[in-house]
Amino acid sequence: MTAREIIQKKRDGKTLTESEINFFIHAYLTGEIADYQMSALLMAIYFQGMSFDETVTLTRIMRDSGEVVDWSHLPGAKVDKHSTGGVGDKVSLILAPLVAAAGVYVPMISGRGLGHTGGTLDKLESIPGFNTRLPIPRFKKLVEEIGACLIGQTEAICPADRRIYALRDATATVQSIPLICGSILSKKMAEGIDALVLNVKVGNGAIFEDAGAAEKLATHLVRTAAAFNLRTVALLTDMSQPLGAAVGNWVEVCEAFDVLKGGGPQDVRQVTLALGALMLQLAGKTKDLQSGVNQLRPLLDDGAAWQKFLEIVKAQQGDTSFVEYPEKYPAPKHRREVKAEADGYVTAINAREIGRLCMLLGAGRKTVEDKVDYTAGMFIHKKIGDRVRRGEPLVTLQSSGQPPDDEFERAVRSCFTIGTRPPATASRLIQKLLDVNGARSVSEIE
Ligand code: URA
Repeated sequence: MTAREIIQKKRDGKTLTESEINFFIHAYLTGEIADYQMSALLMAIYFQGMSFDETVTLTRIMRDSGEVVDWSHLPGAKVDKHSTGGVGDKVSLILAPLVAAAGVYVPMISGRGLGHTGGTLDKLESIPGFNTRLPIPRFKKLVEEIGACLIGQTEAICPADRRIYALRDATATVQSIPLICGSILSKKMAEGIDALVLNVKVGNGAIFEDAGAAEKLATHLVRTAAAFNLRTVALLTDMSQPLGAAVGNWVEVCEAFDVLKGGGPQDVRQVTLALGALMLQLAGKTKDLQSGVNQLRPLLDDGAAWQKFLEIVKAQQGDTSFVEYPEKYPAPKHRREVKAEADGYVTAINAREIGRLCMLLGAGRKTVEDKVDYTAGMFIHKKIGDRVRRGEPLVTLQSSGQPPDDEFERAVRSCFTIGTRPPATASRLIQKLLDVNGARSVSEIE
């Protein structure tokens, strides 16, 4: 069997066998298969898809490309959450310490920015010194002692996703259901968790913009997880505009501080509490979602989640002085306001384009090798439904690389649709809850 034959088979829409997938992934990891061949296979999968059985096989082989963490010595549920990616989505930074403060173990393996969406690892690494590449024994020790630890895929843990994830970003092969299932579930299962909450985003800033496609992704994710007996639910939430006000790395980390201290934007707080309540429910710590929210809310308001976050930063070698005194952080070299050119109401925001422009500003990578400018980001001053007056700022841009020019400013402004009236309907922030039995609305946690 050769790489070329396997690529050709998938290119022609045929089903790959377990030994073909296994050969391809392992030969890629040992360097016998080159990036260009893996890129070709990813593109073939993107166009031809994979059967359910192929997706399960891919997920298992990716998970087993490294170690699966064993928690048999540690009683108590280990539960994690993963998002399919959004713009301004800083929820993991808040959720891990919050749920750990409620007494549930959260061993979290996250990813970097992908396409127009940001990544938890890049955000965490914007904290000077923060180490997301811990060896497994240290990862286990910190989860045991503190309740949560946040790391990335390494050579020891899910190396297949580490390599393929970066390649997908650079080869426009992110929007593929089998590849997303393989990527998310392989690294989550490598954590050795008992249950998983997925946050599937819906709207123009999501991986899949269309609600039907997002629900299809959620269904595939929970069914694939069920094939491994991993209890999984998916919460579908709105991504038709950035979550919160901050988009970027350090700016999002700072917004997460606000929420961890009991303040911050309502939408970020609400999504975090809903996901946290689901995690508590899967851990057997609450009977219904509303009581889960009631358990978690005080932990944000009384500083317990914030203290837990400080503990995590310190344990992962982050410099907590920047966390306690964010004004110490290097200031961005450039700031520019993008102002409204007409009076009216914001009726739509192109969140995908905001994410893409933020990446171009320096907050993400155009190529695998690009270095991230942690100071780069945007503050969104006006959200859907808000009234604006001509000359009022819509967005503040900041960066330390090339200063944003007039053309860039125009591109940011054109992400906003300003109408004469407020929009007739607004997307619901928390839309549906989905498990293997189907979808239902979740009005009880609003
Ligand atoms: N998050 C992941 O970890 N992988 C994907 O493919 C998409 C979102």
